[in-house]
Parts: sequence; C-alpha cells; structure tokens
Amino acid sequence: MPSHKHTPENIHPEFDRMLDRQAKESLLQQNGCVVWLYGLSGSGKSTLANQLERRLHQQGLLVKLLDGDNVRSGLNNNLGFSDQDRQENIRRVAEVAKLFCASGIITLASFITPKKELRELAGNIVGADDFIEVYVKCSFETCAERDVKGLYAKAESGDLKQFTGKDSSFEEPQAPRPDLTLDTDAESESESLEKLYQWVSQHISK
Ligand code: ADX
Repeated sequence: MPSHKHTPENIHPEFDRMLDRQAKESLLQQNGCVVWLYGLSGSGKSTLANQLERRLHQQGLLVKLLDGDNVRSGLNNNLGFSDQDRQENIRRVAEVAKLFCASGIITLASFITPKKELRELAGNIVGADDFIEVYVKCSFETCAERDVKGLYAKAESGDLKQFTGKDSSFEEPQAPRPDLTLDTDAESESESLEKLYQWVSQHISK
C-alpha cells in the first residue's frame, strides 16, 4: 500500500491557477456541500439519497450522488469489505466528493461508513464547513426483514462474510454527532425525506 500521508516527491500540485470554487458557485447559483448518509445496508440511505437528488434537480440545482454499490463496481472495484478496504473505499470517495463540492456541486454520498473513525476521516478530508453528517438509523432486525438485496439471508447462511452488523461491526454515532438522524424504523419514507430536504435546503441556500 502506498502511503497516503504525504504528497509524493516529484508531484507538484498547483491549485492556484485553476478557476476557483466561487466562480463555479456563482455560475451554478448554488453552494457546494457534501451530504454524507451512513447506516446499515438496507437502512434506506440510497432510497433517500435518490429521492433527494431528484427533488433538488427539479429545482434547478446540480447534484451528484455517489453510492457504495455503484462506486464499488467502478473506481473501487479492487476493494472488498475488510476494515482496511472499507477505509480505502471511504478515503477515495471522500476525496472525490471534495472535488465535486469544490466545483459547487451538491454531493450526496451514500455509504455504510460503519466506524466513527471512517466518518471522521471523511469529514476531515471534505472539511467540516462543507460536511453534513446524516445517520440513517434502522435496526439490524428491520434491515434483515426488508432484505431488499438478499444479503442478510446470505450472511445468515454463512455465504457472505464480513457482513456489516453481523461479523463486521457497526458503531452507533454519539453526540454531538450526527447533524441529523433519520429513523427509518419509526418514520415513513416521506417523513424522512422531508426532514432531509429541509436540512439540506438550509445549508445550500445562496
Ligand atoms: S462501506 O462499509 O465501505 O461503507 P459501502 O457502502 O461501500 O460499504 O458498500 C456497501 C454495499 O455493498 C451494501 O449496500 C451491499 O449491497 C454490498 N455488500 C456486499 N458485501 C457486503 C458486506 N460484507 N458488508 C456490507 N455490505 C456489503
């Protein structure tokens, strides 16, 4: 694994010559931000992120959705579900989200992000001012009942290892985190979407 801590020798990043973020934001008439949705597989992250994307798009806003299953079939198709690979997955996605955000784009990231350390990593890469942390809360039992992708059944029968919530842990966030919790066990889809929409709208108004 290469070290990610330093800029390698002979690489000379030059950000000054590039057109800056403000220029992009005034072109788009919006502020960039990163909305990071995390929670168990099947908790409703992607459903909510997809609906939010459509709703904002209909209002004339430019939004980009990054989603675990999609990103893992392309950019991150060499990564699995060990702790180390999950960290690399989140690191890369956070760097990509930061690039979109710096172009004034409202960026939605939908990843399990199971550990506090990973949420902190993403927040540090993006920068606190641009990072909205949203916990999509749902019990393991409800996610297993929904089992939209059939993964809970596979994990139960032993066909899927390192499954989040079973043999790979999920750490609940603690105060002062997250910025917003959507409890999809208790709320309807439209209630959660409304809360999410209101929160994000406050952050992006220009
Ligand atoms: S993360 O832990 O690194 O944040 P990410 O959100 O990218 O995970 O990917 C999760 C998606 O991968 C799940 O929605 C599910 O469809 C799929 N998946 C496949 N294997 C696993 C596994 N062992 N644990 C969790 N999700 C898995």
